[in-house]
Amino acid sequence: MSLILGIESSCDETAAALVTSDRRILAHRLAGQEDEHRPFGGVVPEIAARAHVEILPKLVEDVLAEADVSLDEVDAIAATAGPGLIGGVMVGLVTAKGLALASGKPLIALNHLEGHALSPMLTQPDLAFPFLLLLVSGGHCQLLFVEGVDQYRRLATTIDDAAGEAFDKSAKLLGLGFPGGPAIERAAKDGNAHAIALPRPLVGSAEPHFSFAGLKSAVLRARDAATHSAEDIAASFQQAVVDCLLDRTERALRGFEGATALVVAGGVAANQAVRSALTELASAHGLPFVAPPLWLCTDNAAMIAWAGALRFEQGLVDGLDAPARARWPLDLSAEKARGAGVKA
Ligand code: KG4
Ligand code: ZN
Repeated sequence: MSLILGIESSCDETAAALVTSDRRILAHRLAGQEDEHRPFGGVVPEIAARAHVEILPKLVEDVLAEADVSLDEVDAIAATAGPGLIGGVMVGLVTAKGLALASGKPLIALNHLEGHALSPMLTQPDLAFPFLLLLVSGGHCQLLFVEGVDQYRRLATTIDDAAGEAFDKSAKLLGLGFPGGPAIERAAKDGNAHAIALPRPLVGSAEPHFSFAGLKSAVLRARDAATHSAEDIAASFQQAVVDCLLDRTERALRGFEGATALVVAGGVAANQAVRSALTELASAHGLPFVAPPLWLCTDNAAMIAWAGALRFEQGLVDGLDAPARARWPLDLSAEKARGAGVKA
């Protein structure tokens, strides 16, 4: 059994956690920065990085105190080393390097996407490799075949915006506030999902990828037409995103044999409409559906500590020269998807 300290700082959540390789979460703390970013309607990288500098050391102290654990008792220190907003990533990674240097414990420079990808296993002991993963967050929208720790095959990615990005930008267009995903989900409850016929980009397409930029532009046109309420537009938008995610995931399922489960992870996995649509899809394909609890979907350090524990058990540790990376694809051999502004 190993005990890992995890640190997360790649976007606007500052977080620290202590997790064991036998799935015990000894402590986890998270400090959001929503109030700092709200006036700007989105995350301001410079503000995020400065906030991580101020908040992170205290969070590390807090989790150690709460679990009554000293740094000596920790087996390794895992931190997100990318992809993400580079200033914030550097704060978390350098903090982890300092702790590793001071304690003589190994560093694990973790890919944030691997944290999301393995997060469902923390609370679902039955989930076994290989599984089909829909990873939907603010920065990424991908289908991955997860064959093991450090073994990811990317089947599809977005050719423009990520799903969470589409939620955030559409919420901003509709004046629903920040962060956009939960705001759209709330507004959609009071709206009619069939009020407006919004586009479903790439649905039915032979290529495997996702696209959301056209949908966002359609939200803008619907807003300017002023014929429907923000609630109706939000509900119609959410339905369109669900339809896109479902169609693309079903396409991947059809082409794939051997997956033990359909799994969803990342911030957008917190969305109930997304979860229930995927539940039905999985059962239609005779597969179990696995989604982390809501708090484990959005950014947190428990998933970083947990992925760190799985890597540590396999002897996958990093040197103190590990770089911070703004971009870092999980599957380095994946071909680029067509389109400009391709997300890794
Ligand atoms: O995984 P995450 O916390 O950060 C990244 O790694 O990007 O994902 C954040 C994204 C944001 O775009 C946010 O709007 C979206 O997840 N999100 C949601 C919901 N909660 C968070 N999108 C739709 N419905 C939600 N309930
Ligand atoms: Zn994330």
